[in-house]
Amino acid sequence: MNILIVGNGGRESAIADTIKRFRPEANLFVAPGNGGTATKYTNVDIAVNEIKKLVNFAKDNAIDLTVIGPEEPLVLGIVDAFQEAQLNVFGPNKACSTFEGSKDFTKIFLTKYDIPTAKYLTFTKEEEAKALEAVRTFSLPVVVKADGLAAGKGVIIAQSYEEGETAIREIFSNKFKGAGDKLVIEEFLNGIEASLLCFVDGKSIVPLATARDYKRALDHDGGLNTGGMGGFSPNPIITDKVMIQIEKEILEPIIQGFKAEELDYRGILFIGLMIDEKGPKVLEFNVRFGDPETQSILSRLETDLVDIFHACMSGTLGQIELKWSSKPSVTVVLASRGYPETSEKDVVINGLDTLEADTYLYHAGSKLVDEQILTNGGRVLAVTRLGDTLEQARNAVYKEVMKIHFAGMQYRTDIGKIE
Ligand code: AMP
Ligand code: GLY
Repeated sequence: MNILIVGNGGRESAIADTIKRFRPEANLFVAPGNGGTATKYTNVDIAVNEIKKLVNFAKDNAIDLTVIGPEEPLVLGIVDAFQEAQLNVFGPNKACSTFEGSKDFTKIFLTKYDIPTAKYLTFTKEEEAKALEAVRTFSLPVVVKADGLAAGKGVIIAQSYEEGETAIREIFSNKFKGAGDKLVIEEFLNGIEASLLCFVDGKSIVPLATARDYKRALDHDGGLNTGGMGGFSPNPIITDKVMIQIEKEILEPIIQGFKAEELDYRGILFIGLMIDEKGPKVLEFNVRFGDPETQSILSRLETDLVDIFHACMSGTLGQIELKWSSKPSVTVVLASRGYPETSEKDVVINGLDTLEADTYLYHAGSKLVDEQILTNGGRVLAVTRLGDTLEQARNAVYKEVMKIHFAGMQYRTDIGKIE
């Protein structure tokens, strides 16, 4: 079986390695891939947004299944292009990917189907004056969000109205390129965040094991927002009671809404949640696997991932039983010097060959040059371990992290610590 994975991050490494765990005979291609996928699979030198080239590659190489990792090609309509070429592809189509491509689209959907979420107002560029007035009607802090894709940087939590006004002006002055024609002003929600990824097959929605992500760069949630510096699974904040509430108040209305809006959603739906004593509220939808949640979650998967992908594509998820290891996992991200503001590249990585055989090492911003693994900027590696308890997994993963070295390597030391 020939499988193409589109992307180059730790998430795509985890998808590839998990497929291989159940399908050792599969032939894996990763476009464009990273230093780790170069050593195990075949990297394909095509960027994630070169949709025509990817379609042609899949046709020319008899690819049986393509899995799309990042949001950019999904929002551009890569799934529609593959389907038009009669190719099997895992991911939501362009219409469904608007849930990540437009925050306003998601808020309209959530409100229409009575799904708990923060109160909000939307403004277009022409309504800047109204937006500047409206921001002062919210309590502080107030959240201002660019409507479109902004590489995770389009959300500003303003501690003062002046900060909120600056955010509005910056978004409308095109700071986030195409993301700034519209913006959402939103009530700030207190609580604990959780990531709930779900498989969707067009008519049903099935949650994966729960996870938590650490978004800030430094220990104790200090420093800047990042793509995610680590995570663990399962997430104890999602108790059985909370899960029942999520199913009733969020998942069931989502499926009803998809049906009513004639959205044929097939793929992963990542629901960002804020949970307080009253229950869960939706912060956002993403239309793809999370990074690094995927590294924590898929390391615990005990069902063939390709079977699940096929079930999502063919509307037969009900016939699949998702099995998870009872052991918790902890994932620590090792990032390059300066991340997330700047990022250093081309530094030699040492110690990777000293890791235990049962450690999951997922490459992200790495590259293979003359048989040497070098950093390629940003988040470089994600290391995951399972343990009998969260604490054991946490101790085991940090023991492995200590064996890896590259100049400027930075990581959080509090991942998996319940404080
Ligand atoms: P989003 O891309 O919409 O998930 O926003 C990114 C991050 O900003 C979230 O993971 C939260 O940490 C934070 N955030 C977004 N919206 C809110 C909100 N309404 N209240 C509190 N925090 C928020
Ligand atoms: N870890 C958050 C995300 O993938 O968006």
